Amino acid sequence: MVNYKDLGLVNTREMFKRAVAGGYAIPAFNFNTMEQMQAIVQAAVETKSPVIMQVSKGARNYANATILRYMAEGAVAYAKELGCEHPEIVLHLDHGDSFELCKDCIDMGFSSVMYDGSALPYEENIKISRQVVEYAHQYDVTVECELGVLAGVEDEVASEVSHYTKPEEVIDFATRTGCDSLAISIGTSHGAYKFKPEQCTRDPKTGKLVPPPLAFDVLHEIEKKLPGFPIVLHGSSSVPQEEVDTINAYGGKLPDAIGIPEDQLREASKSAVCKINIDSDSRLAMTAAIRKHLAEHPDHFDPRQYLKPARENMKKMYIHKIVNVLGSDGKLAE
Ligand code: G3H
Ligand code: 13P
Ligand code: ZN
Repeated sequence: MVNYKDLGLVNTREMFKRAVAGGYAIPAFNFNTMEQMQAIVQAAVETKSPVIMQVSKGARNYANATILRYMAEGAVAYAKELGCEHPEIVLHLDHGDSFELCKDCIDMGFSSVMYDGSALPYEENIKISRQVVEYAHQYDVTVECELGVLAGVEDEVASEVSHYTKPEEVIDFATRTGCDSLAISIGTSHGAYKFKPEQCTRDPKTGKLVPPPLAFDVLHEIEKKLPGFPIVLHGSSSVPQEEVDTINAYGGKLPDAIGIPEDQLREASKSAVCKINIDSDSRLAMTAAIRKHLAEHPDHFDPRQYLKPARENMKKMYIHKIVNVLGSDGKLAE
């Protein structure tokens, strides 16, 4: 049993309290590789931002759970080496799909876990969420639960349709589960294809697809029911068009990839939304830089040659999100 406090990590409680009060959101960036981890830490240190580094079940399968745990411990040491005396780094399980997986992560040093029972019947979701919360709180680990269904791929759970969170259920759900934060569905979705072209309109000037707006009315209803309660948005990549264009220009094929406009995420950050999940934008930034580099340097075969610009491009994206979208720059405690 490893306690996250011994690894220099923090849970989400204090940072969420400050974020809700301050009208900004904490970035939750997924990571699978060393380059992503380095870029996240560099961006967080340079902007003086708290940060959530999150690991999905797929990431655990890809990189190995133990390695990712040591990478997070290394991230704290790396942040200090870069000059941040008191980094606020959370190691979070993203989309935990069972009590056993959540327990395993808590036991190996995670400071926060998500139990995602959103695809289950309501009472079943409450039952397992409660079980995770009871276990986690013994170790002061914070727990995110989810109500409402996002369209798209949630780790290994795929959903064709989304169901907005029902505001009339959130008080009962939060009270009976005891969760520390609540992920809701208001129209975001996972992956780089968040909307089908037929769900969008077209900007007459540029011809680009314009996605349907997020359901801010649902968000505001939820905020009214649970004043000050930390709300989480999944599926919040904006799928930057320039990265998609670069990928397509250098041999990729991502037709009609589309994300959540950043101005809507900025607006959400000012509300009780205090954690915004971004994974796909990192994948796009990495892939775009690698494709471009290899196309321009066909003689390169040392991974460091193409992973270095990939890391730089991800760092640029992370800094942009922190400073221009979420507003968590300069928000470290003290
Ligand atoms: O919400 C899902 C995350 O983007 C993680 O994706 O399961 O492919 O690692 P993954
Ligand atoms: P994106 O696919 O929009 O980056 O969402 C990531 C996410 O919600 C991770 O839990
Ligand atoms: Zn998610």
